Amino acid sequence: MPFYHKLGKIPPKRHTQFKKPNGDFYYEQLFGTIGFDGMSTNSYHEQRPTQVKEIKAQYSIAPKVAKANNMQSYRFHGFKVNQEDDYLDSRKIVLTNSDCNIILAAPRKSTEDYFYKNTDADELIFIHRGTGKLRTHLGNLDFKYGDYLLVPRGIIYKIDFDTVDNRLFIVESYRPIYTPKRYRNWFGQLLEHSPFCERDLRQPQELETYNESGDFLIKIKKQDEIIEMVYASHPFDVVGYDGYNYPYAFSIHDFEPITGRVHQPPPVHQTFETDALVVCSFVPRLYDYHPLAVPAPYNHSNIDSDEVLYYVDGDFMSRNDIDAGHISLHPAGIPHGPHPGAMERSIGKVKTDELAVMVDTFKPLKVTEEALKIADNDYYKSWLE
Ligand SMILES: [Fe+2]
Repeated sequence: MPFYHKLGKIPPKRHTQFKKPNGDFYYEQLFGTIGFDGMSTNSYHEQRPTQVKEIKAQYSIAPKVAKANNMQSYRFHGFKVNQEDDYLDSRKIVLTNSDCNIILAAPRKSTEDYFYKNTDADELIFIHRGTGKLRTHLGNLDFKYGDYLLVPRGIIYKIDFDTVDNRLFIVESYRPIYTPKRYRNWFGQLLEHSPFCERDLRQPQELETYNESGDFLIKIKKQDEIIEMVYASHPFDVVGYDGYNYPYAFSIHDFEPITGRVHQPPPVHQTFETDALVVCSFVPRLYDYHPLAVPAPYNHSNIDSDEVLYYVDGDFMSRNDIDAGHISLHPAGIPHGPHPGAMERSIGKVKTDELAVMVDTFKPLKVTEEALKIADNDYYKSWLE
């Protein structure tokens, strides 16, 4: 998160004595990234955050790859992913490479008897259906339809749903996820031409603090495995923190589209970046206004990136037979473009209501067994007339 945030109680000077009303010490933790070089947060805990009581099960949740070298365009029916009660069980990796996992999840229930921490990936959780509260050791974020929740690696969290019918699209990125650098000045402030600004990014304002001892299970993800660790103190025992490294929310509905006289390329939709992938938001917008404009995208070859589009809502102008919850995968190396008739249909249209999230990865994506369960195997022939 590229700007400073302070929540709760902190001492006036870092690394100095900070005492409770009864004279005991609070315990300081520096929560940093890229060694001591990246964004960090200084948090103050009721108890030492190091009290591992027991290490229990350790098991693999690695994706099962069905096609390691994929050159086939696919459509996946995302809403066919089964609902499951448990949040972690519900997360199905459909596409994967060494930089990221792309996950669909339909959890029915809130996480109740455990906490979760992903130690080696940032998680970008897009809320397609459902409302609730993301509860973390650095504060809470209410969420609803259209929200991106950015959970930096190492955040301990629970997810509470008010709803049963929840649909999540998650990008798990081993490279840190930032806002695009070209939209920030050298101080980190979002510039005037950015499609969103700091006011649109929601920081935690509510901090839950428990000074409790007992058995607290944290399911920790590290290198494709879950390691179950029992801590002796409640993981949400922070009384205050400040810094740059914390979870935040951004609604896709707050993305202000950039339009032009002729078709604008996908980077105008960019919302997040890493050095291994980009995430773009396609939102309702006016079409190109050149008198001879062709609003549908031109055919294009992603020579060196795989393109994943997750369709959220509205009418998808360039595709036939695409519904909410569908994913299209257009692999690097072969061109793709509007379906037959879509280019012609687009001419003269003045606006689109489409809402979609796109992930372009610079390394090829492998298709998993979970993906093939919901795949349309003939999609690759859908450009034939
Ligand atoms: Fe494309």
